[in-house]
Amino acid sequence: MNAQELINTTKMLVAGNKGLLAMDESNTTCNKRFAALGIPQNENTRRAYREMIVTTPGLGESISGAILYDETIRQQKKDGTPMVKAIMDAGIVPGIKVDSGAKDLAGHPGEKITEGLDGLRDRLNEYVQMGARFAKWRAVITIGNGIPSKGCIDANAHALARYAALCQEAGLVPIVEPEVLMDGDHTLQKCAEVTELVLRRVFNQLYTQRVMLEGIILKPNMVLPGLTCPKQESVDEVADATVNILLRTVPAAVPGIAFLSGGQSGELASARLNSMNVRFKSRLPWALTFSFARAIQQPALEIWHGEDTHVSKAQKALYHRAACNRAATGGEYNTGMEKT
Ligand code: 13P
Repeated sequence: MNAQELINTTKMLVAGNKGLLAMDESNTTCNKRFAALGIPQNENTRRAYREMIVTTPGLGESISGAILYDETIRQQKKDGTPMVKAIMDAGIVPGIKVDSGAKDLAGHPGEKITEGLDGLRDRLNEYVQMGARFAKWRAVITIGNGIPSKGCIDANAHALARYAALCQEAGLVPIVEPEVLMDGDHTLQKCAEVTELVLRRVFNQLYTQRVMLEGIILKPNMVLPGLTCPKQESVDEVADATVNILLRTVPAAVPGIAFLSGGQSGELASARLNSMNVRFKSRLPWALTFSFARAIQQPALEIWHGEDTHVSKAQKALYHRAACNRAATGGEYNTGMEKT
């Protein structure tokens, strides 16, 4: 492992108020999003969609790294240019999702364990050869009646740490993503308690597995009330709750925290990230940025709709959401930007 190389990559990923674009939906998830809009679901439409994204003019002004799915990292643009080359030519660092999905955890009804550790060392080495510089693994924690359980949290924290250690051995920066889902009617307070517990377990396991914290990026959920909770706190209250939990649990050695959006609207995700940076940026040991999928892609996907003739308009929408989030990372976003 070359520690300095890992540190350099993490620095590059969080520099200049830029953030990450997650475009690593599995075929199943991507097809589901296409189906909801009546877009044909096949390899060619997925390829065309990803080509639309990576050829967005100026995307590299706001996006430092793009997380790809296995199918995409092996694909080419229509003109034969490898997708990875198109990304690097745009000044964006290519990354890769390496988990193989969240499966039911035996003995734990309603809970998931993320799989993919078997054979991971070989797969990581292959992705390095293909040009990837960082990787992602997502663990899923559900809040519900009597859950999450200790068994679920510990199993997922352990897997995240094993994955992170393997990534660093291969020279890839691990994005460590423990996602506490926002589905449900739980309160913000409950999300705060669960997020704190999960992050404590994750950092404990990262330490146990000898992961170098200077060479990771944490990708957590924001601390939010459940989607169907009657009480929905203000943007500033969410920002305060989120930063308070992160200050308690994330060591200062970690260079960057890049949030997932988790089903929030694009505008809310930007507003909440902005509030965190406005209120706390000068006092934080780590960069607070974004690693959104839906909160960047959704408007562009709806405009594109599988039509070549819509590409340019879709790219403008994508560029706009990416630019709003870069502004939010700098604490310079305001809702007036949405009207331009
Ligand atoms: P969302 O921003 O849509 O939650 O996706 C982020 C991600 O990469 C989930 O793994």
